[in-house]
Amino acid sequence: MLTVFCAQLGICQKFENLAQTPPMGWNSWNTFACDINEDVIKKAADNMVSSGMKAVGYEYIVIDDCWHGERDEQGFIHEDKAKFPSGMKALADYVHSKGLKLGIYSDAGIKTCGGKPGSRGYEYQDALMYAKWGIDYLKYDWCSTENINPIGAYTTMSNALYKTGRPIVLSICEWGDNKPWEWAEDIGYLWRTTGDIYNCFDCEENHGDWSSWGVLQILDMQEGLRKYAGPGHWNDPDMMEVGNGMSTSEDRAHFTMWAMIAAPLIAGNNLSDMSQETIDILTNKEMIAINQDTLGVQGFKYKAENGLETWFKPLKNGDWAVTFLNRGAEEMDINFDWKKESVKDPDFEYNADFVKNEYKIRDLWEHKNLKNTNKVLKTKVKPHDVLSLRLSINE
Ligand code: GLA
Repeated sequence: MLTVFCAQLGICQKFENLAQTPPMGWNSWNTFACDINEDVIKKAADNMVSSGMKAVGYEYIVIDDCWHGERDEQGFIHEDKAKFPSGMKALADYVHSKGLKLGIYSDAGIKTCGGKPGSRGYEYQDALMYAKWGIDYLKYDWCSTENINPIGAYTTMSNALYKTGRPIVLSICEWGDNKPWEWAEDIGYLWRTTGDIYNCFDCEENHGDWSSWGVLQILDMQEGLRKYAGPGHWNDPDMMEVGNGMSTSEDRAHFTMWAMIAAPLIAGNNLSDMSQETIDILTNKEMIAINQDTLGVQGFKYKAENGLETWFKPLKNGDWAVTFLNRGAEEMDINFDWKKESVKDPDFEYNADFVKNEYKIRDLWEHKNLKNTNKVLKTKVKPHDVLSLRLSINE
């Protein structure tokens, strides 16, 4: 495989021990697009702390596209001084003073998707500048790349970051166009698997020659990819739309499925005006523990019947997360006789034996214990909602 090739030749290097669980944070794009400035970013950092998000593990504040000013005569990039008058270094210091980390955005091509200067030909200079500013995370996009080779382009930036000596998480964003899961394990820490998400549970938004996708569409596109993910190298189904206008049950289902598939949990809402429901979803510790489980194995779809899907995710110490996802518009009955199910991980060596073992059941949204797996699970799940459980062996 190409990744082996690149690592064996010593032509790609990345920091060990970064992103050992899926990165958690916030990114400016879904809410603010190009309308960003230092106050927006500082407020996001303030709110990440005051909302309780930092306390449950959110860490990265990522500035997406359109922070850029011009390159100077020597080619070094600078921030847009009108938007970031105090400068990027001061902003990084501010974010760090809150106990958080700062991310930034660039592009492997000549221009970013928002038409700002891209890094092509300036990779080492840009990486040096990011390190000098104190940047901790780089989202690296794929607009205006013409016919350049994606493995080469991402390896170049990966190596440039590595050479700075500062541990910077590289987030590969080429929308899954070149199957990064097959080559990016030794280059980046997460890679987008799809085009952009948008704020809808079950829709496609057609923009002509590209589309953005709803939650279920993106979820379906993850098929077959779980075997490529693990500690330090994650599939990224894009930033979250929780709190951006879907119903509470849709937001809950979206968050749950991102947790189940070990997705990076990067919030994309306005942290300044969150409803209590949004805060409760984004800070559900029991669900975050499923996502951040150190076994680092993505969940899999075990069954699908009439729009009711059953997903399993192996966890450390033999625990399992189980989610019933109702994709449809009608309430669905769950009638799940554990002892009649044979749950085998299709890609890794895990299986849940409900005949031999009795598991305790914890409802991860109701925050209460249910009966155990010796009893048939009989309940209902609302439309566009989930029932999500943690199973632990009853000693
Ligand atoms: C692309 C990316 C988005 C966002 C925009 C910024 O579309 O996929 O996530 O970064 O560019 O222009």
